[in-house]
Amino acid sequence: MSAEILPHVKIRMSKSNEDKRSLRPAAVRKTRSSRSAESPDSGLGQYGKQRKKQSDSALAQDLRQMSVSGPGDPTSSEEKQLGQHQNSPPVAKSAGGLASVVRLMKLGRCKNVVVVTGAGISTASGIPDFRSPGTGLYANLEAYDVPYPEAIFNVDYFSNDPQPFFSLAKVLYPGSHRPNYIHYFIRMLHHKGLLLRVYTQNIDGLEKLCGIPDDKLVEAHGSFVTASCHLCYTPYPAEEAKRAIMNGDIPSCTFCAATVKPDVVFFGEDLPQKYFLHTKDFPKADLLIIMGTSLQIEPFASLVNTVRSKVPRLLLNRHAVGPFQRVPLRRGDHVELGDLENTVRRFAEMLGWNDDIVELMKSLEQEQHIPTLVNGTSGTGGEDESDSETDSKCSASSCPSN
Ligand code: OAD
Repeated sequence: MSAEILPHVKIRMSKSNEDKRSLRPAAVRKTRSSRSAESPDSGLGQYGKQRKKQSDSALAQDLRQMSVSGPGDPTSSEEKQLGQHQNSPPVAKSAGGLASVVRLMKLGRCKNVVVVTGAGISTASGIPDFRSPGTGLYANLEAYDVPYPEAIFNVDYFSNDPQPFFSLAKVLYPGSHRPNYIHYFIRMLHHKGLLLRVYTQNIDGLEKLCGIPDDKLVEAHGSFVTASCHLCYTPYPAEEAKRAIMNGDIPSCTFCAATVKPDVVFFGEDLPQKYFLHTKDFPKADLLIIMGTSLQIEPFASLVNTVRSKVPRLLLNRHAVGPFQRVPLRRGDHVELGDLENTVRRFAEMLGWNDDIVELMKSLEQEQHIPTLVNGTSGTGGEDESDSETDSKCSASSCPSN
């Protein structure tokens, strides 16, 4: 079911998981928002309360807080079926999705492009996504001993037991992966002066690393660049937090002694202030490109419904997701399904940008003295520096409108 049709579905949990959860004591915690994350005790225990909160949120969801909006608990049999369904042919397809958008771009009709991204843009860099059956992170968490996959990013669960997240964080900390062609395509949109903003759910830092400047980037689910106390939000030196986590220690707040975590947004936490740029950007957008996301997490998923009704929306993904599952598609919606890197290469070739992108990739990788990903081979890490170039100019020869 699409996030648009039923935005506040509860997470469904298996019986055995509920049993496991009932063993855990309740954690008391405030959220960044004015609303309390925990309602007065209903005697349900921590996870009962969590479920009740999610059910209450169907009536009044705090749209600043991150929550699951899609079909729910990926461990449920229904979701597994959905995973299988995701491999089946799309329900709706626009004819020549990519070609129509390329035509508009070449006509110069798209000068304020908003890009919305998810984990699918980084799989070509060797980072698994979350929900792909079999390969996604949530299908491979056995070693972390969590009652249900998303618990590993749940702030109430973390409050009670930070260990699973800290073990995973050792793997997730940015530094060993390189941006791929898709990241550089987005950077090229900026280079051509067409990028209004990129909204990413990713916490891998690869948009920054490929040189998309800060003012063009909204990391909606936070990042590892800063850290703070998960209870009182007192900032904590990010490098010190990283060192502690890497050494198997638990960093604690200098003010209240609660556990410190990197400022990655967890379920039940507020999104960063910068996210609210969307209220300005989406009404201004003249093209929305959505890439590599299942559009299952709110409030992010609903962003795609906030562009003006006649603005073209292009979904590039392996499967139709969100409003793109609708039959027929909304007028102006375009879908191009398949492997994202191949699709984006084709997109770039149709725009006449491929050589520029390859050149850009080579020069940045050489600058940072690291193996190139131009041919899809994985790099081995390098400096975590991004080229802070803010070149929004469009040369006469490379403008899409030419
Ligand atoms: P998901 O794993 O939910 O969705 C990734 C989407 O990308 C799926 O639809 C895949 O089919 C698609 N995909 C993956 N690799 C692809 C490829 N090579 N070519 C084409 N499509 C591909 O990831 P997100 O939507 O980003 O939150 O998940 C959103 C949030 O859920 C994440 O930010 C994360 C998670 O809980 C946090 O970690 C805080």
